Amino acid sequence: MTDARHLVVDPTRPDPRAIARAAAAIRRGELVAFPTETVYGLGADALDPAAVARIYEAKGRPSYNPLIVHVLDAVAARGLVTAWPPAAQRLADACWPGPVTLVLPKTPAVPDAVTAGLPAVAIRVPAHPVALALLRAAERPIAAPSANRSNELSPTTAAHVASALGDRVALILDAGPTDVGIESTVVDLTGPRPRLLRPGLVSRDELVRMIGDVAEVEATSGDASRSSPGQLERHYAPQAELRLVDDPDAGRAALGEARLAGQRAALLTYEPEIGGDPDVALLPAEPAGYARRLYAALHDLDARDYNVVYVVRPPADAAWEGIHDRLRRAAHR
Ligand code: TXA
Ligand code: MG
Repeated sequence: MTDARHLVVDPTRPDPRAIARAAAAIRRGELVAFPTETVYGLGADALDPAAVARIYEAKGRPSYNPLIVHVLDAVAARGLVTAWPPAAQRLADACWPGPVTLVLPKTPAVPDAVTAGLPAVAIRVPAHPVALALLRAAERPIAAPSANRSNELSPTTAAHVASALGDRVALILDAGPTDVGIESTVVDLTGPRPRLLRPGLVSRDELVRMIGDVAEVEATSGDASRSSPGQLERHYAPQAELRLVDDPDAGRAALGEARLAGQRAALLTYEPEIGGDPDVALLPAEPAGYARRLYAALHDLDARDYNVVYVVRPPADAAWEGIHDRLRRAAHR
């Protein structure tokens, strides 16, 4: 890509001039797409309501779905909230910088546009050196949802961002593919019991080990979802219809039948299944590796115009729960 808005940066030691340009754009109220360790974010000055409004407009995001605010460290996070319970301190110590987002009651400094009118704000310290460099240079919190159009797949490369939102951003900082691959774990700490709003690579089991007790929130649809909007059932969806199948054999059988019926069908499965078939996408058989490559595999299948993708359900253990969550939502019709 030769677009002047597309800046390639080193993922660990980004060019300070590129970071300064991106920070200046943020300070002017413009949108900057940047890598985090999970997925690419669509960033704007979190304290500027007009800038935040541009995020909703660019994504086509419904105004009731609040944004995650990214900050440099736990001290900055504490400055944006009115309560900091022991569980927040423990999770910040154990997980930040990293893919865990905490929901806490907001101060008036956080615009209502960021929280979609909710009294609490979602905050995290991202672990990507480029995101941290941008936060440091911008000298303000950055609101950033995943840099995709609303309800579409999250981007794990700058090319994904460019194809979804390229003409709507001032700049894209391109540091190559992201490492975690699925969005952060979101934990609500506003009530008497911590609640898991969105599972991620940090699992509920791990959270329980860190803070003792974590309630699970069932996915809902309709109005009940408004208090935890990320629980909207259909989300993270590719263009193709996704159908979950229970095991690799069932996947092969379904693929075979669909092809016989003349459909453009693919199979997304994991090792040690055999690859080589152009209609079969193969992911690693462990959760971190699978998550890292899941969205890129789905983006790739979408680009190849399949109308149905069979997805072999990964193992049932806790380490896979964030992946199960994304697959279930992507497959929901
Ligand atoms: O890994 C990530 O979290 C990425 C990177 C860019 O940081 N961001 C991300 O943002 O996934 P987004 O907007 O795609 O998802 C944010 C999730 C949504 O499910 C949203 O409903 C929830 O966090 N959320 C944000 N603010 C909230 C709040 N005040 N209360 C409850 N849920 C909130
Ligand atoms: Mg998103």
